[in-house]
Amino acid sequence: MPRKEPQSWEMVLKRNSVERLKHELFPTELAGQWNRLAETSYEKLPEEDIVRLQWFGMYHDKPKIGTFMMRVKIPSGILSADGLRAIGEISETYGRDQGELTTRQNFQLHYITLDKFPEILERLKRVGLTTMGGCGDVVRNITGCPVAGVDHDELFDVTPLIAEAAGFFYGNREYSDLPRKHKITIAACRYHCNAPEINCVALIGMVRDGREGFAVRVGGGQSSTPRLARHLGVFITREQAMPVMRAIIDVWKGTTEYRISRVKARLKFMIDDYGPAEFRKLVEARLGYALEDLAETPLPDDESDHMGISAQKQDGRHYAGFPVYLGLMSGRQMRAIADLVGSFGGDIRLTRRQNFIITGIPTAQLDDVIAKVGEIGFPLSANGLYASSIGCIGDPHCNYAVTPTKTKLATIIERLVAEFGEQVGGLKLNLDGCPHACAQHWTGDIGLQGTTGRGPNGEPLEAFDIILRGGLGRDAAIGKPVLRRVPSAMVEDQVTRLFGAYLERRQAGESFTRFCVRTSDAELTSIANGNAIGADAAA
Ligand code: HEM
Ligand code: SF4
Repeated sequence: MPRKEPQSWEMVLKRNSVERLKHELFPTELAGQWNRLAETSYEKLPEEDIVRLQWFGMYHDKPKIGTFMMRVKIPSGILSADGLRAIGEISETYGRDQGELTTRQNFQLHYITLDKFPEILERLKRVGLTTMGGCGDVVRNITGCPVAGVDHDELFDVTPLIAEAAGFFYGNREYSDLPRKHKITIAACRYHCNAPEINCVALIGMVRDGREGFAVRVGGGQSSTPRLARHLGVFITREQAMPVMRAIIDVWKGTTEYRISRVKARLKFMIDDYGPAEFRKLVEARLGYALEDLAETPLPDDESDHMGISAQKQDGRHYAGFPVYLGLMSGRQMRAIADLVGSFGGDIRLTRRQNFIITGIPTAQLDDVIAKVGEIGFPLSANGLYASSIGCIGDPHCNYAVTPTKTKLATIIERLVAEFGEQVGGLKLNLDGCPHACAQHWTGDIGLQGTTGRGPNGEPLEAFDIILRGGLGRDAAIGKPVLRRVPSAMVEDQVTRLFGAYLERRQAGESFTRFCVRTSDAELTSIANGNAIGADAAA
C-alpha cells in the first residue's frame, strides 16, 4: 500500500527546483530562443537554461567552459549507414573527431557548442535521427536487442513495435514532463541481452498458447539505489503493448508525491512503496480493463551479446559483432564503417556493452568485410574482454567523476589480458567514476565504482569500491561492495588475484559470479589482498 502522502503542486514547486524551472519555461520552448542562448557567453547562461538543455540531449562537458556532451537517440541501437555517416561527419566537424557508444545504445559526442546545435539537429533530422529527449525527464532512448529482426533465434520481430513506441514517445509533450527520466526496453531475444532487469519498464517477448506477447517488469534501475525490476504478474498481447506502456507512465506521472525530491522521483520508488500487485491495479484502473495473469517472469535461455559471426534469418546474409575497445569510436572511423556498410546495403547495430554489430553482410563477402573492419580499427579477433568490459565516460568528460574511467579501464584490461589471455574473455567488467552507475557497476561480474579514499597521512586518495556477486539473466542480482575504497594503484592487482583464484578453484561450468557467491566476504578479501589463500573457498 502507498506509504507516501499526496503532495500539493505548490509544495512540489517550492521544494523541487527542476519542477519549478519546467513550470516557468518548459525546456523544449528554449528552441524559440536559440539566438539568445548562442549569443550569451557561457558564464552568463542561467543555470536553469543549462538544465533545460538536457531536453535537447545536451549536458555540459567537463570542465564547464562552454561545450556540451550531445546524445543521439538510436531506438534498439538500429542505425542506417546514412545515420552513422551523419554522426561521423558531425563528430569530425564539430566534436573533435570523437564519439562513444553508450550502455543504452546511443552515440554520444562532446565539445558541441550552442551556436552549431541547430544545424547539427537539422543534419540529424535528414537521416531520421534526433537528440531530443536524450536527457531530461522524458522517455529516454528505447533499448532492445540489437539484432531484432535479423536474428535466427529471436522469438518474433519487435522492430515494428519499437518504431511505433519511439514514434509516439519521442518528442511527445504529454510524455516530456515526467517526474524524472524513464527507461523502456522491448525485446523478444531468447538471451535477454537488453537487460530487462535494470529498466523502468521492460517488455519481455514470449509466446503463450501460440500468441505472441510480453511479460512486463517494472521499477528496475541502477544509480545509488539499485533495483532489479519486478514482475508485474501479467501477460500482454502485442496490441496491448502501447496502451500498457502509456498507462504505466500515466499512473506514475499523475502522482505528485514522486516529484517532491529528485532523488526519489524514479518509478522504482513507487514500485517499492506500492508493490507490483497494487501498482498493477492502478494500471488496470487506468486502462479500464483487467490484464491476463502470468505467474512467473520468463528467464533467458542462455547468455549472449551477439558478438562474432552468425547467420541471419534472411537467406544469404550474416551479421558480425565487433568489439569496440573502451566503447570509443572516432568520426573518421564512423564514416569509414558507414561507407563499407552502405556498399552492400546493411546496417549498424549498437549494443548495450558499447560494441557494434554489422548486419546484412552477403555471405560471400564476409571475410572481406571482416578484414576491412579490422583495418578501420575493430579486429574481430580482439580479446573477448574488449567486448565484455564497459566503462562510463567519467573523467575527462563528466563533472561527477572522482576517478579516471576509460583510461583506468584500459590499464585493468591490459593487465588481465597479459595475465590470462583468452581465458578472461567474456568477463563482465563494469567501471564507473561515481555512484550514478552509468556503466552499471552493480550488475557486472566485477563492478568498480570510483570513490575517494584516505592515504597514510589522511590525504585524499583516488580509490575504487569493488563490487562482486552482481549479474543479470538467470543469476540476476545487485552486487555487494565486498572491498571498499581500494586505492586506485592497487586495483589491477586485486582484480587479477580475484580472477586468478577463480580460474584455480572454479568447479565445472561455474561462472565467476557463482564462484563469488559461494565464497565468503572474508575469503574474497583475503584473496584480493594477496594474503594466504585458504584451500577451502566455500562460505
Ligand atoms: C555529465 C553527466 C553524465 C554523463 C556524461 C552520463 C552519461 C551516461 C551514459 C552515456 C549513459 C548510458 C545511457 C544512455 O546512453 O542514455 C548513462 C546512463 C545512466 N546514467 Fe548517466 N551520465 C551523466 C549523469 C548522470 C547522472 C547525474 C545520473 C544520476 C543521477 C546518471 C545516472 C545514470 C544511470 C543510472 C544510467 C543507466 C544505467 C541503467 O541502465 O539503469 N547519469 N549515463
Ligand atoms: S557514472 Fe558518474 S562519472 Fe560516470 S558518466 Fe555517470 S555520472 Fe559521470
